[in-house]
Amino acid sequence: MTHINFDRVAMVYDQTREVPKEIINLLIEKINKVLFETFGSPPYQILSLGIGSGRVEKYLSSKDNHLFGIDISELMLRELKKKQKTESIATAQADVYNLPFRGNFHLIVAIHLVHLLDNLERFLNETLKASKLIIIGDVYTDVYQSLIYSDFIEILSKIGWEKQDSAPVDGFITREMSRLGFLREDIERTETTSQTHYSIYDSIKKKYFSWLWDVPDAIYNEALSQLETRIQKKNINLNESYQTTASIELKIFKKRDI
Ligand SMILES: C[S@@+](CC[C@H](N)C(=O)[O-])C[C@H]1O[C@@H](n2cnc3c(N)ncnc32)[C@H](O)[C@@H]1O
Repeated sequence: MTHINFDRVAMVYDQTREVPKEIINLLIEKINKVLFETFGSPPYQILSLGIGSGRVEKYLSSKDNHLFGIDISELMLRELKKKQKTESIATAQADVYNLPFRGNFHLIVAIHLVHLLDNLERFLNETLKASKLIIIGDVYTDVYQSLIYSDFIEILSKIGWEKQDSAPVDGFITREMSRLGFLREDIERTETTSQTHYSIYDSIKKKYFSWLWDVPDAIYNEALSQLETRIQKKNINLNESYQTTASIELKIFKKRDI
């Protein structure tokens, strides 16, 4: 089971991980298209794993789409509940390794989740009991194009702490799904967008990036102090924006017999 607890960022999750509306629209359009092509007309039952605060998943709920969501973080789910006009999304606090739902969902989606899991085999076993159509994906704004972010990673590395890149879904999941008779289709799109330097600085300073939770305090404090010195030396105006990109990446796995 994952030990990463998103309770600590629940209240700021959406505002620190914003993606442009065009990317969200594309996500909804692609998901509805694959549902229609696979099953014909709605309604559809969709299960979101690691739904969190529903940052993007909330848009999947409609009169045609009955959305269910599970998450291990109580406070992320509480944020989702605050947003709902009605009780239109059924949620449960649960672990993806032990789904509280059985049976046939038309679709299971896992957005920005699998990089956090330490047992992908167990995750797949559990997921595949509940659907033959699985979308694993991500919707994000690229922070690596921020000078402040890349400087911080470089400083950490010089102090002796290397940021590990998350395990990609390519690899184990793709091999396993292919062995089990799933076809894979990829959808990717990138749009230009902008962010302020401040949003990145603030997310580092308040440890809103989940990977920062692994950095030992002494190293983190030293790196932050060096980062602040660099910001001053380079005369970076934190209120200015820099150009970056927002992307959607979806891997659609569909069992051959549906
Ligand atoms: C990076 S957030 C993504 C949230 C949402 N899908 C989004 O894209 O905005 C990952 C979410 O997965 C949840 N999570 C992590 N491990 C989990 C597990 N083993 N079972 C259920 N939820 C889990 C976290 O609590 C968190 O809300």
